[in-house]
Amino acid sequence: MGTQATTLAPAASLDLARPGQPSPTSTAVPAVDFHTGVNQGVPPVTYGEGDRPPRGDYAKARADYTCEQDWAQYSAADHDTYRRLYARQLAQLPGLACDEFIAAVGQLGAPDRIPRFDDVSERLMKATGWQIVGVPGLIPEEAFFALLAARKFPVTDWIRKPEEFDYVVEPDIFHDLFGHVPLLFDPVFADYMQAYGEGGLKASRLDACELLARLYWYTVEFGLIATPRGLRAYGAGILSSAGELRFSVTDPTPKRVAFDLQRMMRTKYKIDTYQAIYFVIDSFQQLFDATAPDFAPVYRDVRERIARDGELAAGDVLAGERQFAVA
Ligand code: PHE
Ligand code: CO
Repeated sequence: MGTQATTLAPAASLDLARPGQPSPTSTAVPAVDFHTGVNQGVPPVTYGEGDRPPRGDYAKARADYTCEQDWAQYSAADHDTYRRLYARQLAQLPGLACDEFIAAVGQLGAPDRIPRFDDVSERLMKATGWQIVGVPGLIPEEAFFALLAARKFPVTDWIRKPEEFDYVVEPDIFHDLFGHVPLLFDPVFADYMQAYGEGGLKASRLDACELLARLYWYTVEFGLIATPRGLRAYGAGILSSAGELRFSVTDPTPKRVAFDLQRMMRTKYKIDTYQAIYFVIDSFQQLFDATAPDFAPVYRDVRERIARDGELAAGDVLAGERQFAVA
């Protein structure tokens, strides 16, 4: 899917490298132990197949990988890129994005320039007790989980170059901010994200990050929600993608099945094409409640199931599984 892959959500896809990838094992910088989640001033090697480190400046980041947003250093071209990305996405939201997202997107502030993180944080703190914090880019999973558990959402501080308008290999400020932050204004979703962070710290100890990452992928990044007026997107990878937003909600090609935790954890995902399958929730409360139980036995069950029956490819549908129709 050549062309499609380039207009899609690679930003989002690699974003999942955050909670998803096995701990970075760089041979280029053998003295650095990323598993501690403590910044040592060099880029983490977070790509499954990447042959280059993330582009951010990790030397400027603190031990927890956060950094000041140096708002003054954004150029006029940077602000213009944000303005154009924002306008393109905003125009597509009606009928495709969930109501909670549409209601909150204005909280990001003026649509014509890159927001100041402190301004957004002030509003977010009042609404749900969350903050956004700057980061140089992708960060190791333990550091990512720790921030979420503290109700701090890491937002990449740089924006794609004009020539990357339709395709950026790593998550940038537009994906992180426009895609993820509006739903942090929703109290239930906000609690889910914190619980995910705590679950991630636990999953690291249980060596289950890969299974947990599938949950993140199929909910936070690529989730759909069923509403009385039809399916809507709530996943950030979809909401920040020019092409996948409409595709995910209306195109007959991909599979759409009901949210099912264990089924989702068995299902691999694609990071370089539109998704072949989307999982549909009924409500954020359902998502929160379904993920509240202790995952230790869930990981055990899923591992047993995978050992017995194998993993599922993204496009697989099980016998008797109900699929959602598009309008
Ligand atoms: N209940 C999960 C656990 O015990 C934590 C979690 C909550 C994980 C929400 C993901 C999302 O590990
Ligand atoms: Co993301």
